[in-house]
Amino acid sequence: MWVEKDPEKKNTYWPSEAMKERAWASDEAIYAEAAADPVAFWTARADELHWFKRWESAYEYAPHAYKWFVGGKTNLSYNSLDRHIEAGRGDHVAVIWEPEPVDEEAVKLTYKELHERVSRFANVLRGLGVEKGDRVGIYLPMIPEAVVAMQACARIGAPHSVVFSAFSPDSLRDRLVDAGAKVLITADGYYRRGKQIDLKKNADLGVTGSPVEKVVVVQRLDGSAPMEAGRDAWYHELMADASPDCPAEPMDAEDLAFLLYTSGTTGKPKGIMHTTGGYAVQAHTTAKWNYDLHEGDIFWCTADVGWITGHTYINYGPLLNGVTTLVYEGSPDAPDNGRFWAIIEKHKVTQLYTAPTAIRMFVKWGDEWPAKYDLSSLRLLGTVGEPINVDAWNWYFEVIGGGRCPVIDTWWQTETGANMVNSLPGIGPFVPTIAGRPFPGILGDILDSTGQPLGPGEGGYLAIFNPFPPALTRGIYGDPERFKAQYYAEYGPERYFTSDGARKDAAGNIRITGRVDDVMNVAGHRLATAEVESALAQNEKVSEVAVVSRPHDVKGEVPIAFVLLRGGIETSDDIRKELMATVNQVIGPTGRPDEIIFVPDVPKTRSGKIMRRVLKALVRNEPVGDLTTLQNPESVDKLKELVGHSA
Ligand code: PRX
Repeated sequence: MWVEKDPEKKNTYWPSEAMKERAWASDEAIYAEAAADPVAFWTARADELHWFKRWESAYEYAPHAYKWFVGGKTNLSYNSLDRHIEAGRGDHVAVIWEPEPVDEEAVKLTYKELHERVSRFANVLRGLGVEKGDRVGIYLPMIPEAVVAMQACARIGAPHSVVFSAFSPDSLRDRLVDAGAKVLITADGYYRRGKQIDLKKNADLGVTGSPVEKVVVVQRLDGSAPMEAGRDAWYHELMADASPDCPAEPMDAEDLAFLLYTSGTTGKPKGIMHTTGGYAVQAHTTAKWNYDLHEGDIFWCTADVGWITGHTYINYGPLLNGVTTLVYEGSPDAPDNGRFWAIIEKHKVTQLYTAPTAIRMFVKWGDEWPAKYDLSSLRLLGTVGEPINVDAWNWYFEVIGGGRCPVIDTWWQTETGANMVNSLPGIGPFVPTIAGRPFPGILGDILDSTGQPLGPGEGGYLAIFNPFPPALTRGIYGDPERFKAQYYAEYGPERYFTSDGARKDAAGNIRITGRVDDVMNVAGHRLATAEVESALAQNEKVSEVAVVSRPHDVKGEVPIAFVLLRGGIETSDDIRKELMATVNQVIGPTGRPDEIIFVPDVPKTRSGKIMRRVLKALVRNEPVGDLTTLQNPESVDKLKELVGHSA
């Protein structure tokens, strides 16, 4: 048993003696110690990694320009691979890849094998003209080459920009253009729910009109995908000719490591910038402490590599720690609803890190699926991405963890690069809906809208204070003004505004209540209502559109679209289908509204702004509140009828 029930408090667990003994931190005092000198805390953590040259100053602050390990030289790939090989762990398994088709064998790559592939591919990239500082696009499914590609970029200091493989060609193109990528790494396709998905087709469309000059294609399917002469080349052919020798480039700690585009409150995603040294340190430390990583562990993070969770806890975090990371290609219901549990039994997974939306789906599928499999290898469970409800937490704890394993609820964001707020496995507590305290060395609190700290139980906004955590984003690519406005307008340059609502208990444990801006979490995918709006607005039949989120029992939240069609166009199911197809084309399936409601008018302020607050209340069946500032209050009655509003 790794946990004990609190004898007095319901739904509260603490680490057992055995857990405390194993854990990297089990003394409460670490919080006060680290808070007294965060820079010293992170400096000690940085010393666990390899530096080609030690830093001259650990932390430097200037408004909107904080830096960690200034003057230090390191490399993410060296620390992920070479360091372990030099320590004699080269024959340990680095990656286990589980293909979706059950008749295909899993692939295991040792650290030495991964190192060789990464080095070869780094040379391939160089051969294509990629130099230090050049951005490289990656549009890959969940195959081992996704890890190889990211590591190869890191090895030569070419920042990667990974685009989720389910994103549409338009989304891919926008990101390639914004990043100025000249090379794209993609695949001919992949398996999803038993079907072959043609990724190359989307890649071709997305590359058109982008600055990409060379496309490297990994062969996952039958190799019949059309290749454009002079532009496209097969990965395996390039790899066969490449040298396996490619020493890692010493990177400045503050050199750009990668870009990752995420949704803001506008229709245009922003390229979140992460630099090398600070990111490496926080990714390494949080992976190690939060998931209790020890030699021989088999860590499974079920996110997609296209999201920050995949970057930090499929690739860098586990590999920086020298453990095995599991990559699963496909869907949780292929070939049946027991696939996750079959994988855990088969590979003896020790830690599982997944999203509440997946857990809620498993609850729906029923206990009989996990019951068929031996899950006793699991020692720890993690969740991420959205607030978790009590029932889902308890089910995860009891049915998957067998009541043995701590559940670590990690709050963080694309912008923070790595975990920020969660209970530590050796300290606890483990309580449904409570993430925990800011990680040691991270200063944060709940503030009101004027910036005053709030007491226990009072709802406000989560903010993070200077000295900022080492992995916190250094900026938005090409848009320093948006960076300042988005994160530092609210509370000034020394307090990062998270856009999340939160409250804490008397012990300082934080409950995250959700976004306070127009960003949704749809099945664990971050999406702005404005993105869905601008996608729908691209259909010429649409005159006006407003999108708001509605709670959903499995997906957490879903987009609901209010659409006003152009004059003379009759509403019909065909138009509804057409609009869904437009969203598919512009964003991809993740952006599809759960419902499209055709309306004759949308509520607007006198200055002509759509009052989304009213629409949100309507779809949630909540009181619509004060309508006196509307220019067309009568529109609301009609809308009430259309959404079946009773409040
Ligand atoms: O609202 C918070 C929610 O996810 C947002 C960040 O989304 P993204 O950048 O896509 O990163 C997701 C994975 C790190 C946050 O602003 N969120 C993330 N983790 C939690 C959470 N909400 C509640 N509890 C969490 N553990």
